[in-house]
Amino acid sequence: MKLQRPKGTNDILPIELKEKEQFKSSDWQHVEQVARSVFADYQYQEIRTPIFENYEVFSRAVGDTSDIVSKEMYDFYDKGNRHISLRPEGTAAVVRAYVEHKLFAPEHISPTKLFYQGPMFRFERPQAGRSRQFHQIGVECFGSVNPATDVESIAMAMRFFDQLGLKRITLVINTLGDKSSRETFRQALIDYLLPFKDELSEDSASRLAKNPLRVLDSKDKRDIAIVANAPSILDYLNEASQAHFEAVKTMLEALNIPYVIDSNMVRGLDYYNHTIFEVTSDAIGNAKTTICGGGRYDGLVEYFDGPKTAGFGFALGVERLLLTLKAEEIKLASNLPLNVYLVALGESVNVAALQIVQAIRNQGFSAERDVLNRKAKAQFKTADKLNSELIATLGEDELNQSVIKIKNAKTREERAYPLNQVYQDFALIYDELI
Ligand code: HAM
Repeated sequence: MKLQRPKGTNDILPIELKEKEQFKSSDWQHVEQVARSVFADYQYQEIRTPIFENYEVFSRAVGDTSDIVSKEMYDFYDKGNRHISLRPEGTAAVVRAYVEHKLFAPEHISPTKLFYQGPMFRFERPQAGRSRQFHQIGVECFGSVNPATDVESIAMAMRFFDQLGLKRITLVINTLGDKSSRETFRQALIDYLLPFKDELSEDSASRLAKNPLRVLDSKDKRDIAIVANAPSILDYLNEASQAHFEAVKTMLEALNIPYVIDSNMVRGLDYYNHTIFEVTSDAIGNAKTTICGGGRYDGLVEYFDGPKTAGFGFALGVERLLLTLKAEEIKLASNLPLNVYLVALGESVNVAALQIVQAIRNQGFSAERDVLNRKAKAQFKTADKLNSELIATLGEDELNQSVIKIKNAKTREERAYPLNQVYQDFALIYDELI
């Protein structure tokens, strides 16, 4: 029986294939390591939540009318007749865990800063940078209404991209204001859009009734033309919302972080208020790719029956990030070096070869050997492919004399060493040759 991976999913292999969107696992590790190290500098700690949750976790938080919930969720009834969803995003799950484990209690450090990484699931039409199982690295910060938190989180995302070497990216910001600002704006938008109801795309016409702000985000050409003259949220902010947005802009400037404002940006999830942002790249094709998005969600913890607690976070798509890195031709320093490859000549050295590589590994070095009893030439070729720094050769003669030949693969300098020394102090040999 021949089976293939489900549509819209990928295998992450140790080697790079020509196939679209197939990246080396070492590239993934590199990206994750940089994220961990940057997030640690900002005192974020890792949280791991289940990849499936009760359906309501997402339907309530992300919004019943959002595309994610209404069209893209993988949901099913389990054998106990519970309505379950594979997670389409991380925020709602992390908020659920934050409330469930009372991480808001006084014994915990506030603000609570959490990061996560792992697979997310959305039933979307697969294309470059869009899959049905994709991976996010995300962060959530609970307990601060200070706009400095918005800016610090954004700064952390930008520092992460900078550390990876991305150049062709843009920070786009907007505000959705607080609830009352948004309600006034919502009405103004409905008043503006209603006369165009019949000219709007089908999707936008239905959104007009359920979630009119989403119309601003439409990619349909007709909608874009109509939306061009729509009122702007920025003209409907009350004093507090205005002050928050002004503070965010001032603080971004204080950190010399360039940004553009897109007052039509609304994001596809319902839980946001005040600051929202996206990081886009123009390195792939003609259209802009969104690699990262996030914002403030001050009401969400309360929505999950927790105490009034502010929230700010973002998530980035790892596949899209890797595509962007590739498009910018950035080489990731992700290949772990092999310190020694042992060329083992003949069955008679099999046990000794096993002991030697084991001893070298026990001393903290990476080592590999031939186990297929191949000819010397084939083994040297493998050492080459693995980019080994040192190549050791062990044949029956060497073993009888209790020595081993070790050479620097680059300089070709070769010396014979007593096996005892390899067992006891390989570091000295390594230092001598490298
Ligand atoms: P989001 O904008 O839905 O936000 O997703 C964040 C990122 O995930 C996107 O910018 C994109 O890079 C990636 N992404 C989304 N869908 C796909 C897909 N089908 N295939 C590949 N990549 C994809 C959120 O999920 C929010 N939870 C972010 C957040 C955290 N807001 C506050 N805290």
